[in-house]
Amino acid sequence: MTALDEIKIGGLGASRKRVEDNRFIRGKGNYTDDIVLPGMLHMEILRSPLAHARIVSIDTSRAWQIPGVHLVLTGEMMATRNLAWMPTLSYDTQAVLATDKVRFQGQEVACVIADDPYIAKDACEAIDVEYEPLPPIVNPEQALADGAPVIRDDKEGQDSNVIFNWEVGDAAGTERAFAQADKISRLRLHYPRSHPSPIECCGSIADFNRATSKLTVYMTTQAPHIIRAAVALVAELPEHMIRIISPDIGGGFGNKVPVYPGYVCSILASILLERPVKWIEDKSGNLISTGFARDIYLDGELALRSDGKILGVRMHVDSDHGAFFSDAQPSKFKIGLLHSAFACYNIPAGHITARGTYTNKAPGGVAYRCSFRVTEAMFFQERMIQAAAHDLGMGQQAEAKARGRLLGLGISTMTEPLGAGNSREYDILGIKMFDSADLKVHMTGKAILRTGAKTQGQGHETTWAQIVAHELGIPAEDVVVEEGDTDTAPFGMGTYASRSTPVAGAAVAMVSRKIRAKARKLAAHLLEVSEEDVEWELGRFYVRSAPDRGVTIQECAMAAYSNMPDGMEPGLENTAYYDPPNLTWPFAVYIVTVEVDPETGVWDVLNMVAVDDCGVRINPMIVEGQIMGGLTEAYAMANMQFITFDAEGNCVGSNYMDYLLPTAWETPGYELHSEVVTPSPHHPIGAKGVGECAAVGGPAAFVNAVMDAIADTGVRNIDMPLLPDRVWEAITKRHDVSGAPPVRSDD
Ligand code: CDP
Repeated sequence: MTALDEIKIGGLGASRKRVEDNRFIRGKGNYTDDIVLPGMLHMEILRSPLAHARIVSIDTSRAWQIPGVHLVLTGEMMATRNLAWMPTLSYDTQAVLATDKVRFQGQEVACVIADDPYIAKDACEAIDVEYEPLPPIVNPEQALADGAPVIRDDKEGQDSNVIFNWEVGDAAGTERAFAQADKISRLRLHYPRSHPSPIECCGSIADFNRATSKLTVYMTTQAPHIIRAAVALVAELPEHMIRIISPDIGGGFGNKVPVYPGYVCSILASILLERPVKWIEDKSGNLISTGFARDIYLDGELALRSDGKILGVRMHVDSDHGAFFSDAQPSKFKIGLLHSAFACYNIPAGHITARGTYTNKAPGGVAYRCSFRVTEAMFFQERMIQAAAHDLGMGQQAEAKARGRLLGLGISTMTEPLGAGNSREYDILGIKMFDSADLKVHMTGKAILRTGAKTQGQGHETTWAQIVAHELGIPAEDVVVEEGDTDTAPFGMGTYASRSTPVAGAAVAMVSRKIRAKARKLAAHLLEVSEEDVEWELGRFYVRSAPDRGVTIQECAMAAYSNMPDGMEPGLENTAYYDPPNLTWPFAVYIVTVEVDPETGVWDVLNMVAVDDCGVRINPMIVEGQIMGGLTEAYAMANMQFITFDAEGNCVGSNYMDYLLPTAWETPGYELHSEVVTPSPHHPIGAKGVGECAAVGGPAAFVNAVMDAIADTGVRNIDMPLLPDRVWEAITKRHDVSGAPPVRSDD
């Protein structure tokens, strides 16, 4: 017998079909809303219609009288249990249910728990809230203006709307670089708010059992262990009596990282009522109140030599965080990894200043297929490069197409620091960002693997088994993968920031190696030779001097339960916690050609080429799916997705008639390339993360292409989304078009 064919057993590099799709395609997925528990009640949330207002009174008496209502929760009641406010992932506080003021349209004001969701909804409408309106603030400029009302007057010592001022880089060196420049290129733009809008909204079922004192919560979370820790700390419940279960998740993209008030209220309601309480958010609730991404303003400058050499970069950014600073990001970095901007370029000097402000909007800057502000960094980088090339006369494509249409070429390069942590630099609320895997090999050589990550559609059940197959020669189909249950999975920080492959995926390789080390001892025992005389090839140990004499990994597994050497602990299982020595740095280039119709401002993608290097690809088919999905989301952000705010703080576009999701019809075709493979030097199997890359690097390619097509107009920027009316306005009026709020409500 010789080594197994790795592709045939579904190992590294196999385009293995996704095992999870068996149940998804058959409609047999198990999502939070599919779970029905005996005696379960239903919860609905009353949200604020106003963006900024003082609460004068809340009268719940009519709601209590509706038959079928079991509980009405208000901020005042939460406060008696010290639960009116909760901590955020950025050391801020967030209201669970409003007590003093409402601070954004859609904020949670009260909850009703009833026999069914319809009664609960009706009862919400029977709650009378008297508001005293306050002036709303919808952008950083208004937030910083003299005399602006202080949004977070609940916080002691907070006398303005500034959350932080932060800077990084070499101010003096950058100043010198700018003094030597032949030309200085400047760009101002707004990266608009975007919403991840997963198909499945957020939800939870809290089930407190008074007899056992155990709280079980089924919920849509990307980070179940973090939620368990948060519940233990906030609700002061013992951690070992809390079980968080994330069943199947219908997309997360970062939207399902934060703790939302609905989770907290359903937990408290279950404890008070001693019955399971289900909360399932509706679409508009999700779009209006859960974590948004981006919403950041750039003032950028590049110091240029006339031959195109970039001497220095200066950036100031104003980020709009909404009413509560809830970004999920490492504690050390106030504005995430924005300073990874220009990582694709060799620039001698750079300086970034960043200011964060509160506004009357739902929390912003949280995450959408990229956290830690890397998307913004790469977008600013490539938009500034395109503007600089234009300023130097190096970037224009003069060719005008027949039929009077304008042709544009857009290029975007990106590299992204993926895989937080290492624990030296990355923690969230002090918890170090390592991850974990636990592998149990049964006596027949079949196995179960559990990790601290949580798939939301990325295909971990498929790819983690491929890593085990690569390391142990156990066919991937013999390995079942489970994630998301804190009672069974080892502790991990969850899935976001494309950290699963760099961190949990590495832990899978490391735990497999621990298993192989024990299996080697078992093999030596079975082969009656010393361990040093045993060699490994995929799936089999053999005697170095007699290669025909060997035992399979499955035979070793059986021996671990039936024929272990004297003194050896029985069984074949282990756990690995992996703290990466560094981040992984995938990189990519996206090139797109577009045709713009000057009569209407409509633009079409002619061709898009994507070259991604994410190191060793575990499953090439899944990687391609990740890239296509990311490019499609990038296209949607650049072309059609618009969710914004009017002067009253009303959220405009909070439905899928306005906030458009691209269908197969609108989605362009992509030409994907995978020839460039630079394995990560420190990841055990050389893999880097990939999930976010195309969504991070893609938007600038589309915008650059349209800007290139209309370069003759002298217009330097149109804010995303590049809606036809904006492009048409830029072409006909020959000025930049801003998309920053406030917008007129009839826009
Ligand atoms: O953390 P998240 O799962 O969102 O992102 P990721 O680690 O980039 O992985 C996304 C999917 O692509 C997973 O199924 C990975 O196992 C797979 N992948 C791969 O097959 N090869 C890589 N080099 C990177 C990711």
